[in-house]
Parts: sequence; structure tokens; C-alpha cells
Amino acid sequence: MTSNITIIEMGPRDGLQNEKQTVSIENKVELIERLANAGMKAVEAGAFVSPKWVPQMAGTTEVMAAIRRKPGVSYPVLTPNMKGYEGAREAKADTVAVFGAASESFSQKNINCSIEESLERFKPVFDAAKADGVKVRGYVSCVLGCPYEGKVPVANVVRVAKALHAMGAYEISLGDTIGVGTHEETKAMVRAVSSEVPVAALAGHYHDTYGQALSNIWASIEEGVRVFDASISGLGGCPYAKGASGNVATEDVVYSLHGSGFATGLDLDALIETSVWISEILGRRPGSKVTLAKMGG
Ligand code: HMG
Ligand code: MG
Repeated sequence: MTSNITIIEMGPRDGLQNEKQTVSIENKVELIERLANAGMKAVEAGAFVSPKWVPQMAGTTEVMAAIRRKPGVSYPVLTPNMKGYEGAREAKADTVAVFGAASESFSQKNINCSIEESLERFKPVFDAAKADGVKVRGYVSCVLGCPYEGKVPVANVVRVAKALHAMGAYEISLGDTIGVGTHEETKAMVRAVSSEVPVAALAGHYHDTYGQALSNIWASIEEGVRVFDASISGLGGCPYAKGASGNVATEDVVYSLHGSGFATGLDLDALIETSVWISEILGRRPGSKVTLAKMGG
């Protein structure tokens, strides 16, 4: 029997937020539409954050207005506070995402407040979203390490994940922001979180800085996780995690899953085409081994 795995596409947000060159609204819209046409059921489309902090996400209102939304596909956007939520509501977002961290230093650098303060800021976002019928996803960053503090105690990850779930997040995405975790560390972390939050409400969000992300996805599958974030062509990183590379490349995850008997509903050839297309626009080689192999190296 084939099991299903859901991939949430991060390229247009986590990917492009860290891009040095300007990517036009038109190209962002085409990227999102290509990914939805490749079978994605969720494409994170942008972020309502301060344009002074993350200039690349400044056009999210325009992007949200221009995309032709496919029925059955959701287009989540990041909302760190009520100002962000208001932008998302005006843009008619169906899903928003709040993003907290398991490390105090990262929380300060990324969203300019402590972990406790961030949870307070998220409360009105959850309330407003509930009233509007908008779904809320929750992220926890630094689940396997912090660029400022090093090792992060698993108890901190569990506490923040549990808090977001209790506030009403339908899914908690566990972020290895700097891609330092390994297979066994990931298993232990997922096991600890899933003792407090149902595993069906967990997702893995693994950056590939140390080349461990695919292995960490398999570690999470062994623990029962069935939803993973990935980025087309491995685009991206986090502006507040210097040197971190993008999420694991979507094409590499899909190749590995399909080859192992899992179904994703995604068209690998269409993903590869999209990866080549966006890489040409950015003027670089694709960041996916599968795409490079299919192109002939
Ligand atoms: P702040 O400076 O503390 O906010 O920033 P403030 O409330 O004091 O407001 C200061 C100014 O920002 C004001 O404007 C506000 O209007 C404006 P001014 O009066 O100076 O002209 N402002 C906003 N503008 C637009 N959208 C908003 C907003 N809120 C306030 N929502 C804030 C706090 C969170 C806004 C800021 O720190 C920020 O934007 N940070 C960027 C965070 C970010 O986008 N990080 C990258 C995404 S997270 C990530 O990549 C990790 C993840 O992938 C998981 C993983 O890998 O671990 C999700
Ligand atoms: Mg990320």
C-alpha cells in the first residue's frame, strides 16, 4: 500500500526572502503558479513582515493579488504580529503562519522580541484568524541548533511547539533553521515533541546547510511525520541565520519519496522544469542534485 506524504513548497518565501538580487513580482507569481500546477497543495507565497528587515518580501500584497489561485491549493503567508495579519487579511490569505523560536537569541534577532513576548503577539493573530475562518500554521525555529546559542535543549522545542498547538495552530513546522541536525538527533527531537503534540500535527522544515536534510526527513518519517517543507531548487536561507542554506530541494525529496513507494501527488518533471527556469532567472545552477542529474550534470 502506498502512503502519502504532503510537501509544502517554501521556495517563493523561505527561498526568495534571502535572495540578494531583486526578483520581479511577475517572476514570483509565475513561480507560485508553476509550483501549484506541478501538484503542490500548499505554496507559501510571501511574508507580511517589515520591508526594512526583509526587503525581498515587500511585494507580497502585489503577489497575492496577481496569482491565479487554484481551487484546493492554499497560499500561506507569514504574519509575525497583528500588522502582518491585517496585510494578510486584506490580501485574502486562506492560511497564515506565525513563527516562534526555541532559542531566545534567535527570537530577538529574527522578530525583535523574547519567546514569551512572541507568544503574546501571536494571541491576537490566532483570535482574529479564528473569527475570519483563516487557518494558522506555527513554526518553531532552531529546533536542532541555534546560530547564536549552539545546542538548543529539546525541552525548549517541546514547550514552544505545545504552546502554539494549544493556541490553535493546526500544524507545527519544526525548523532546523541552520541545518545542523543529524538523523538520530532529529528522531529524538521529533519523539519528544510528539509526546506532547499529536504527530499528525507536526511537519519537518529542514534546511540543508550540512547536507543532512533528506536524512532528517527519513528520521522524521520513521517517527510518524507525514508533512515536510521543501524549497524548489533548494532556494533560500534565513536572513537572521548567516551562512544557512535553503530548505532541502523539493525535487530531491520527491525523487527519494517516490523511489521508496510514497506518493506525493507531485509531478517530478514539472518540478525539475520549474527548478531550471527559476535558476536561469537567478543566473545560477540549480541547487538540486536530481535536477542537475536529469540535466546531464
Ligand atoms: P519591530 O521593529 O520590533 O516592530 O519588528 P515594531 O512593532 O516596533 O514596529 C517597527 C516598525 O515596523 C513600524 O514601522 C511598524 O509599522 C513596522 P515604522 O513606524 O518604523 O515605519 N512593522 C511592520 N511592517 C510590516 N509588516 C509587519 C510589521 N510589524 C511592524 N508585520 C518585526 C518586528 C517582526 C515586524 C520585524 O522584526 C520583522 O519584520 N522581522 C523579520 C522576520 C522575518 O521575516 N524573518 C524571516 C522569516 S522566519 C524564517 O525564515 C524561519 C522559518 O523559515 C523557519 C526556520 O527555518 O526555522 C519560518
Ligand atoms: Mg526556514
